[in-house]
Amino acid sequence: MARILITSALPYINGVKHLGNLAGSMLPADVYARFQRVMGHDVLYVCATDEHGTPAELAAATAGQSVREYCDEQHDIQKRAGDGFSLSYDVFGRTSSQPNITLTQHFAEVLEARGLIEERLEHQVFSIDDDRFLPDRYVEGTCPHCGFERARGDQCDNCGRLLEPTDLKEPYSKISGSKNLEVRETKHLHLLQTKMEARIRDWVDASTEWPSLAKSIAYKWLDEGLRDRSITRDLKWGVPVTKDGAPREGFENKVFYVWFDAPIGYIGATVEWAEANGGDWESWWRTDKGADDVTYVQFMGKDNVAFHTVSFPATILGSEEPWKTVDKLKAFNWLTWYGGKFSTSEKRGVFMDQALDLLPGDYWRWYLTANAPEGSDAAFTWEHFQSLINTDLANVLGNYVNRILRFNKSRFDGVVPEGGTWGENEDWLAGEMTERLKAAEAHFEAMEFRKAASEIRAIWALGNEYLTKAEPWTKFKTDPDAAAIGVRTALNYMTVMARVALPVIPNAAATILDALGIADSDRVWPKGEAKSMLTALPVGQSVEPPEVLFKKIEDTDVAEWSERFGGAG
Ligand code: MF3
Ligand code: ZN
Repeated sequence: MARILITSALPYINGVKHLGNLAGSMLPADVYARFQRVMGHDVLYVCATDEHGTPAELAAATAGQSVREYCDEQHDIQKRAGDGFSLSYDVFGRTSSQPNITLTQHFAEVLEARGLIEERLEHQVFSIDDDRFLPDRYVEGTCPHCGFERARGDQCDNCGRLLEPTDLKEPYSKISGSKNLEVRETKHLHLLQTKMEARIRDWVDASTEWPSLAKSIAYKWLDEGLRDRSITRDLKWGVPVTKDGAPREGFENKVFYVWFDAPIGYIGATVEWAEANGGDWESWWRTDKGADDVTYVQFMGKDNVAFHTVSFPATILGSEEPWKTVDKLKAFNWLTWYGGKFSTSEKRGVFMDQALDLLPGDYWRWYLTANAPEGSDAAFTWEHFQSLINTDLANVLGNYVNRILRFNKSRFDGVVPEGGTWGENEDWLAGEMTERLKAAEAHFEAMEFRKAASEIRAIWALGNEYLTKAEPWTKFKTDPDAAAIGVRTALNYMTVMARVALPVIPNAAATILDALGIADSDRVWPKGEAKSMLTALPVGQSVEPPEVLFKKIEDTDVAEWSERFGGAG
């Protein structure tokens, strides 16, 4: 039994996440976690809300709440949305929790002791009316290059040039619109990533198990050369800056930068898990405490890769303490909305909570796995969604289950029938099944989700192909024994069809396994000799047709949802 630590990028606390966020980190992490669990491994799947930073502060102010209240509320909302999609986290923690605060302060102090942190003076835009320093992208003004009037302090969206806030003409605060700005001196802690460049490159070179997208992004950053970066900010909401465990002089009104404490949150959330469950977090994270035999797998969107292949490693490798580092890093491209961006204000796209009001989580899970933005960006369209759901779930899987179980109910009293003998058709099924199971397992193992989904689809379709050969419907009248072996094998094969579906559509798979009377302990990946798997159901065991497994998506649904959330029109 292997030990597998799985993390998905921590969703920002502000705002419910859209389907793209789900598709590019939390869902694949969950599918992979469920796959490894049904393979019999010891899995710890960790996630949390990423709660610090300016956007959270501003969102709380807009909501008329304290940041703490706002985060408490939003955390619960995101937790509920995750539950609605059956995300099976072992813990859904918070980066604002005490363990993460303690760990973040610990890392900063250790890094400083190693000579990797330095105080430096910076010049930043201060908004007198807002009474705060403005992060670069909260300063706006006229672009000195193209004259665009709403250029951001980090970049002009019109001409694409990178900017410094002080480049802008007529600058104003994006928060209040105030032009009452000045440049002030402010002291910050800098992490000396330049000193660690060689070390990080060696570590990336040695990370042979990363899929190619992650690896290529990591080298792009390394090749550009690492820069020292400021890891503190002038903000109230965040992890306080300490020295020797006490507030650090001159940093009383500063906190750590959100991207410094967020990835440490993976460890922090594991501590939360341990505190709640009596688990041993160190055995997952400290290589001197047992984590040397852990395989650590991370899931994230491509914009997060630099932080996980350079910045976070700089923190943990720089500490020179025996922390576990990532073994496999799976990155995703974007899920687009008809080729464009999701946007709440422009009514483009479905958010996690809305999606669950339309259809149960499994429908979305299937679509977003089969259409994962893996090799390139992938577009969500209602038309594609409708066609995948109706074909794969309703027709191929759903109809098979219903047809067989209903026929069995009417012709064989709803029990696994006896009679007939294993023959050519069954040999054929066993042979095909063996090959396909091997392929599906390999794709899951390699975190190739689109391929895994298409192999599962092929495994489902194989059931229907078998029925075409076995023809229990027609045979029943002339040769009831031949019909019996056909139905019995089809029922046994249904257990395989459901078990391979467990990682992706756990609820529908469970409904099928319930109908077949499969015990919890047998809800595992189908392994072993095909013939014994296809003859395992005890003759005489009662099997009951479930309620309709999947309802079809009608054209009228597509029209209505396109109207509400945006579509082809
Ligand atoms: N909140 C970030 C985002 O959504 C991801 C943070 S991942 C972490 O892009 F590891 F840093 F927490
Ligand atoms: Zn410009």
